[in-house]
Amino acid sequence: MVHDRSVRIRTRRAGRGGSDRPSPAALRLGAWAVGCALALLTAAAAWAQEAPGADATPASHGVFTAEQAERGAETFAASCAGCHGADLSGDFGPRLVPLDPWRWSDAPLSELYAFVRSNMPFGAPGSLSDEAYLDLIAFLVRENGHPPGDAPLVADSEFLSSVVLDDPPATDAAEEPEEVPDDPNDR
Ligand code: HEC
Repeated sequence: MVHDRSVRIRTRRAGRGGSDRPSPAALRLGAWAVGCALALLTAAAAWAQEAPGADATPASHGVFTAEQAERGAETFAASCAGCHGADLSGDFGPRLVPLDPWRWSDAPLSELYAFVRSNMPFGAPGSLSDEAYLDLIAFLVRENGHPPGDAPLVADSEFLSSVVLDDPPATDAAEEPEEVPDDPNDR
């Protein structure tokens, strides 16, 4: 209400003791706000740079070979399944099928590769060869529904950053949620 607001403004002015100079708290708040705005701008600029461009290759286009994913399956069973489950559904570690969409949807494979290589196996990061890590990424991409292709995934950062983890292509109708007949005439 108009009346209420004018009362509140008058009280606040009075609280500042009539001085026109901003209080130290107000200055700090101002500096904080500017800092936030800068951080946001920086983040936005970084995002704009890293956002997959029109030339990004979706992982659904076949970015690894079937052999790579097979080798990755063996490495996974030996080094990862103990925490993520043999079926990748998660245990001590999070499920890897489907990979957390908030974190990995449309992320470049370079990020997944870098994360796994520098953090996994949990407790012994970097303990596998680069090739083994690539095989594991191929396996993870396959298990997340993407088909193999003719060319192997290679540990070239430019190439890996150009491949994004898109949604897997719809496979068979059996995986679609079944329609519930709610019209009695359909039964
Ligand atoms: C000792 C248990 C353990 C082992 C072994 C292990 N992980 Fe993990 N993993 C974890 C935990 C705990 C997390 C969650 C930590 C995080 O996301 O920072 C995790 C997270 C991950 C993630 C990210 C998941 C997400 O939801 O974002 C991936 C991918 C992954 N692990 C892959 C692997 C692979 C590949 C191997 C085998 C080389 C492996 N892990 C071995 C415990 C393990």
